[in-house]
Amino acid sequence: MKGLILSGGEGTRLRPITHTNAKQLVPIANKPILFYGIEAIKNAGISDIGIVVGGTKDEIKAAAGDGSRWGVDITYIEQDAPRGLAHAVLIAEDFIKDDPFVMYLGDNLITGGITNLVEEFGRNGANSQILLARVTNPQQFGVAELSHGRVVRLEEKPKEPKSDLALVGVYLFDKNIFQAVKNIKPSWRNELEITDAIQYLINHGYNVQSHIINGWWKDTGKLEDMLEANRMVLDTLTTEINGFVDSNSKVEFKVVISKGAEVINSVIRGPAIIGNNTKIINSFVGPFTSIEHDVRIEDSEIEHSIVLEDSVIKGIKGRIEDSLIGKNVEVSASPLKPKAYRFMLGDSSKVGIL
Ligand code: G1P
Repeated sequence: MKGLILSGGEGTRLRPITHTNAKQLVPIANKPILFYGIEAIKNAGISDIGIVVGGTKDEIKAAAGDGSRWGVDITYIEQDAPRGLAHAVLIAEDFIKDDPFVMYLGDNLITGGITNLVEEFGRNGANSQILLARVTNPQQFGVAELSHGRVVRLEEKPKEPKSDLALVGVYLFDKNIFQAVKNIKPSWRNELEITDAIQYLINHGYNVQSHIINGWWKDTGKLEDMLEANRMVLDTLTTEINGFVDSNSKVEFKVVISKGAEVINSVIRGPAIIGNNTKIINSFVGPFTSIEHDVRIEDSEIEHSIVLEDSVIKGIKGRIEDSLIGKNVEVSASPLKPKAYRFMLGDSSKVGIL
């Protein structure tokens, strides 16, 4: 059994963060989303993992390396343009060969791992197994129609969905999927859709099983999904204080303070994580907040947010909430006259002010 993680994609809904970062490397609880996928596959007993990469390949390669950190072997497979999930399978044939494999979308996060699923696929003799989850917005996903528990029809982003069962970004296949991806045509969005490839398997009499998950799953394409994923993962933390907290500070509930971090005259109310060498001074860090390494937060309040490395937040009067702040960003009160808002914002930035 092999693993195939798809980590191309442009992340347009997360601009401006994705102008300079791969969406799969945005950290959730200070760990890139992609790493949760690698760990889930590894924990299912799979050590041969291919990662399909696109325009952000250098960044992904630098982050995940050869996989030795997890005790797995990573092979990179380059996709020239985002031509669809089924196209990614097509170009991975040399890597997969005849092996069954689990395909995992690198921006998906699933609690509870995939070990049971991989085992079930090994036992049930199916040619493919798909994961489904009930959602309130099926129009935004591939949607499955079941009859007596069997998958009869799949439709990608239907205007009028036949069910509320969305395809989760984890799929199990045997080698017959290669025949399918070679025989389908690009969709209206000019992509080879994995949904169409699975429909091909169904139409040609292959055994496609489904599994409805009860646990939590998120496709982290948008800011609110990122924040929700961050909430879910932070909620599983246990307190660990490896940095310095002075006697004027309070650390409440589940909080991780990483090595070299300093909390001075501040309140950290978990669940929250503070990265290596980050300084929190005269500030409040509220629930569901992840602050990466080497950040400085001074005379400010922030909650339900994600702050990436090397940023500075200083002297902000209103509390910052629901925010994703990129790397090396400065948000600070300006002492300059005249009193004014002063911005230098990248393309597609969003600012909400009081
Ligand atoms: C893709 C699949 C879709 C699936 C979704 C899960 O959508 O095409 O069927 O439901 O991933 O995350 P995309 O991310 O390409 O919009």
